[in-house]
Amino acid sequence: MSDKPVILVTRKLPDLVEARLARDYQPIFNPDDRLYSADELIELADGVDAILPCHTEKFSADVIARLPDRVRALCNFSVGYDHVDTQAAINKGLIVTNTPDVLSDATAEIAILLMLGAARRASEGERMVRAQKWKDWSPTFMVGQQISGKRFGVIGMGRVGRVTARRARAFDMEVHYYNRTRLDQDLECGALYHETVEDLLPHCDVLSVHCPATAETMGLINRERLALLPKNAIVVNTARGGVIDDEALIEALVSGALFAAGLDVFNGEPQNINPRYRDLDNVFLLPHLGSATGETRDGMGFRALDNLDAIFSGQEPGDRVA
Ligand code: DGY
Repeated sequence: MSDKPVILVTRKLPDLVEARLARDYQPIFNPDDRLYSADELIELADGVDAILPCHTEKFSADVIARLPDRVRALCNFSVGYDHVDTQAAINKGLIVTNTPDVLSDATAEIAILLMLGAARRASEGERMVRAQKWKDWSPTFMVGQQISGKRFGVIGMGRVGRVTARRARAFDMEVHYYNRTRLDQDLECGALYHETVEDLLPHCDVLSVHCPATAETMGLINRERLALLPKNAIVVNTARGGVIDDEALIEALVSGALFAAGLDVFNGEPQNINPRYRDLDNVFLLPHLGSATGETRDGMGFRALDNLDAIFSGQEPGDRVA
């Protein structure tokens, strides 16, 4: 019998990550990549020392309370950990870690893609070409918005927010931001700080949301706040769907108050997103691809493994969040 710790790996991981897991641990893999129910998770956790989950598994207070006591840690393959009730984890003595930094570039790229796609009507145009509905070219055909030189507003100037702002500067955009605390000047890189979300919004030709999903940020972008954006603004979300009030956003897109939105994350994703989004031409929709590059997914896996390694060698994991 091996004395290597037993790790429940809830989803199929990149090959290199699974190889390292197999070398250093006794992993229980999920080769079919099936999404486990809460009951299955608890059953599979029997005899397990730690779990390596994704944001697709929900660790509510109830699930955490039912986990076997042998489970010491949830080493997430994600930077977001809103799928874990961290207070319940603390109460049970479970260590929780995430994977920051390694996905900032990839997520920033998707934010910029969403901004451009929304501004230049990319998804609408692409569908038109595929459906053989492209009949003509004219000076007034499918005119979008130029984003160069416009104002780029960031809510949540953490790692991803800062990288995205840096990319936006390459388009000569003037960066404005709101964050719970103002950044040091060297991290601001000239971005203009606003003390409240309400102060920020009138300065955003493009608003990009990068704050974590917490009790405070749920529904943050609501009807009242959307009304503070300039007419024809663009809203981009790569954070979590819950930060945006879908009905309010859809109304603003339908009424023309907003020019467009680019969304990578949704309430109810993947199966139960608001169906009205599908009927709107002025939304650019992606299926939660923020961190979906080979390099980044390897990086996330290795980061989760670094955290596991620290825990099982008696050290403090670098990315402990609870
Ligand atoms: C994250 O890391 O939080 C991404 O949303 C993928 O889970």
